Amino acid sequence: MEDMNYYYLLMEFVTPGELYDLLYPNISSDDTESSEDTEEGFPEPEAKNYFLQMVQALKCLREYGIIHRDIKLQNMLLNENGILKLCDFGCATDKKPKNIVGTTKYTSPEMNDYNVEYYNYKTDIWSLGICLFEMIYTEKPFNGKNDKVIEKKILKGRFTFPEKPTISPELKDLIKKLLTRNPRMRIGYQDIENHPWCRPNFSYYPKTQENTQENTQENTQFEY
Ligand SMILES: Nc1ncnc2c1ncn2[C@@H]1O[C@H](COP(=O)(O)OP(=O)(O)OP(=O)(O)O)[C@@H](O)[C@H]1O
Ligand SMILES: [Mg+2]
Repeated sequence: MEDMNYYYLLMEFVTPGELYDLLYPNISSDDTESSEDTEEGFPEPEAKNYFLQMVQALKCLREYGIIHRDIKLQNMLLNENGILKLCDFGCATDKKPKNIVGTTKYTSPEMNDYNVEYYNYKTDIWSLGICLFEMIYTEKPFNGKNDKVIEKKILKGRFTFPEKPTISPELKDLIKKLLTRNPRMRIGYQDIENHPWCRPNFSYYPKTQENTQENTQENTQFEY
């Protein structure tokens, strides 16, 4: 709809709404994020359900040549049937992306690096990795007291897995593949769907103790 001054977009009202609110029932998304990590994350099967729906939504955008560029839990809405809807296309583009937009904690290294050559749809896959990490651990892999500090950490691309909760080694592997600094080496949609953790019959019980070790993602190469 439009009038003399504005265009109006009418959308369905998705309720209960933000996945963020489901993960952090005690904080409002407008509020300070200081107490986020006191909450408990989703169990793996629940996180996987939301994650796979995010993958479907983003794959569909990719087919239309659209990069969302503001993938985060506040922009994922759940309806009463548990169906996830992606909202907020304010940063989306169907052009070759160049500028830094979105929400710092979720932004990719190549976006922060102004690396125009390698800045493409894979930037959304990085943000997907941040969402998956956050759904499990209720904290962000790259965090700091201000955006400058966070940007630096993202550019280095090094993060650590919290000790708790213990997660399946396969999930840890998937998170590492999503949060791979080099977008050319970062996992794509096809390989995400074929990843063992994403298979329908995946058994979540941690199979080895190895997931309590090697908690650091060494990902320090700067070349693309
Ligand atoms: N169709 C919808 N149904 C229900 N809630 C919605 C819908 N669209 C948006 N919202 C709510 O409004 C919030 C803000 O909408 P949106 O993200 O599109 O705007 P924004 O201007 O980008 O705001 P922000 O800066 O907070 O991201 C969403 O995070 C969500 O909570
Ligand atoms: Mg928004």
